Amino acid sequence: MTIVSIWCRHKGDNVIGAGLGLPWCIPSDTRRFRNLTEGQIKVMGGRTYSGMPQKVLMGKKVIVLDNSGKTEIFDKENHAICTDIEQLTDYPQDLYISGGATVYALFFKNPQIMPDIVVDCVYGGEISPEAKDLVDVNTSVAVLEEKYQPLPQHFELDGVTTRIWLKKGDFVEQSVVKKILNYLEEESK
Ligand SMILES: NC(=O)c1ccc[n+]([C@@H]2O[C@H](COP(=O)([O-])OP(=O)(O)OC[C@H]3O[C@@H](n4cnc5c(N)ncnc54)[C@H](OP(=O)(O)O)[C@@H]3O)[C@@H](O)[C@H]2O)c1
Repeated sequence: MTIVSIWCRHKGDNVIGAGLGLPWCIPSDTRRFRNLTEGQIKVMGGRTYSGMPQKVLMGKKVIVLDNSGKTEIFDKENHAICTDIEQLTDYPQDLYISGGATVYALFFKNPQIMPDIVVDCVYGGEISPEAKDLVDVNTSVAVLEEKYQPLPQHFELDGVTTRIWLKKGDFVEQSVVKKILNYLEEESK
């Protein structure tokens, strides 16, 4: 299995969220997330799951991490609660880690499930001035900078710079890397 982590963080402070939502509206970033994770199993925390529009996740495979198991699932056929992240070790399919900050940190700090590939989208624009209860990924970015290596390519779209980082010293499934790079190349044309 390959574990891919994907986020959009704000340049400088690594903010990814405000309350349950996002502190920006960048349609191309939402589209990138949707297309790169299409047909894949998304893993997300209960707070992210509850904050996302239901229509975005309806009919898609989602694993919702929730310690207490209290998150209400709205698509019982396709969505499952996981109360123990250890159950995802050696999972038989690729996993796309989709946030939020707590869930990224859980994966980045556990060598058994540390992402193989990180799709690192960095937004250089302004955060909405009304944004409150900001959430950041500083701890995960520290691991990224220490334990991962960026590929030389970078892609620019609507104020977002995207780079792919690979875990140092480990085999990374090249077909997955290629698929992601192909998408980003097409998108930035
Ligand atoms: N910009 C981006 O790319 C992006 C992407 C996704 C999300 N976000 C933002 O991120 C924010 C949400 O992040 P968050 O950190 O507050 O919440 P979160 O990561 O979405 O959810 C945390 C969940 O993890 C559960 N959990 C904690 N430890 C666990 C364990 N060991 N095993 C299983 N489950 C465990 C918690 O359960 P308990 O509550 O029961 O402890 C909670 O339900 C929102 O603002 C959202 O918009 C941004």
